[in-house]
Amino acid sequence: MRAVRQFSLRRQLIVRMLSIMMPLFVLLWVVAHFSSQYFINAAFDRSLVRRTYALADQVQVLQGKVQVNLPKAARELLVFDQEDLLFHRVVDPAGQVVEGERRMPSLPGGRPIKPGQLALYDGIKEGEPVRVAAFGLSLAGTSASGMVLVQVGETLSRRTALAQRATLAIVIPMFLMALAAAAAIAYGVGRGLAPVGRLRDRLSARKDFDLSPVPLEGTPTELRPFLDEINSLLQRLAGAVEAQSRFVADAAHQLRTPIAGIRAQAEAALSVGDADSARHALSHIAHAAQSMGDLVQKLLVLARVDAAENTLHLVRLDAADVARDGSREWALRALDERVEIGFEQEAGEAGLMGDAQLLKEMLGNLIDNALRYGGTRIAVAAGGTDRGTYWRVTDNGPGIPETQRDAVFAPFHRLSDGGGGAGLGLTIVQRIAQLHGATVDLSDGPHGRGLVVTIRFPPA
Ligand SMILES: Nc1ncnc2c1ncn2[C@@H]1O[C@H](COP(=O)(O)OP(=O)(O)OP(=O)(O)O)[C@@H](O)[C@H]1O
Ligand SMILES: [Mg+2]
Repeated sequence: MRAVRQFSLRRQLIVRMLSIMMPLFVLLWVVAHFSSQYFINAAFDRSLVRRTYALADQVQVLQGKVQVNLPKAARELLVFDQEDLLFHRVVDPAGQVVEGERRMPSLPGGRPIKPGQLALYDGIKEGEPVRVAAFGLSLAGTSASGMVLVQVGETLSRRTALAQRATLAIVIPMFLMALAAAAAIAYGVGRGLAPVGRLRDRLSARKDFDLSPVPLEGTPTELRPFLDEINSLLQRLAGAVEAQSRFVADAAHQLRTPIAGIRAQAEAALSVGDADSARHALSHIAHAAQSMGDLVQKLLVLARVDAAENTLHLVRLDAADVARDGSREWALRALDERVEIGFEQEAGEAGLMGDAQLLKEMLGNLIDNALRYGGTRIAVAAGGTDRGTYWRVTDNGPGIPETQRDAVFAPFHRLSDGGGGAGLGLTIVQRIAQLHGATVDLSDGPHGRGLVVTIRFPPA
């Protein structure tokens, strides 16, 4: 047996949501990382520049010599920080370091700085990445000439730490939001499906043959089309179950009459003394047994036709051949009853997809009726039109009044008690026609006499 593929709505929704959220989340992380780094760098650079200008302010020229006079507080500000290493340098026009560190990372590419220019750049100092601001302080208007290079730098620990914290401050709430959304979906699906659970409870509490419609109140609109289908299925099922039980009751009723007759006649045969009366009773018994046998035979055929629905194997047939063979099987009985039976192949292609056995059963029932109720002539014809193949059985009997032409297809429905039939023949005809996708049509015979039964098969 093939394994049934199942899936959980909740799991599928969460997996889908996460598969969309996760790449977005990574993208958000990257954007948050770079943008917080950008803004934090901008803020830190501004203070680096401010310190550079402050240091440049302290540069003095005394008798042509460059000096830096740093008050103690200012020096501390320049060199001390809790997290980062701060450093600075002042170089006079001759290239002599007059204040601060000997070694400083130079501008990228070794570019010189121009007087009045400020440059910010990254570099490495003692193996650590650093950020440096450099300012070219022009000495024009003093007793010296040229340019003093003022540089202030710092390591990046605080920037990096702050950027990391800012990124996390954006990313963590987003992550929690995604988790909350997943939890909300899981919970929401559970709540949303609760009516289904209630529906299941109500259905499982039903009695076996309770086929009343499922109540729709309190069910989500998304389930409506599904429940409507279930209800229409239940309605059809209820109709079928009712028809079935009516059929069983009718069949039992039909069997009861001959059985009661057999019993009565058997008792009569036992109680009477003379052989003639006993023989008379026995012939009644034989007759009743015969009609019971016929009824049981018809019931079996009907059961077989119903069962054939699931195992039906239609093959390509020539409808004219099947009808000719079928009619031939009835020739002897027709001769017995002095009824003329003829077969005629009419124009047109008479191919069809069918089951020969069932088709003969159908034709047999029509010929049986024509023999029983019809007149003296039966004509069976087969032919084809562009709308498909047809069969036609015509007799010259009394026909069936128009008002009865639907009713005669119902099981056990008979127009009169004569003829000894059970009332199942046309039911069987209609079921077999349905299995072949064919229609059964009853109409008046020529000159308004007799009955014409036309079976129309769909194009093969
Ligand atoms: N060719 C016909 N001419 C006139 N009446 C017919 C004809 N065929 C059927 N009927 C009427 O339709 C009724 C139903 O026919 P149907 O074949 O279903 O049952 P039946 O012949 O009575 O019994 P069964 O065929 O089960 O032995 C018949 O009882 C008969 O009254
Ligand atoms: Mg019949």
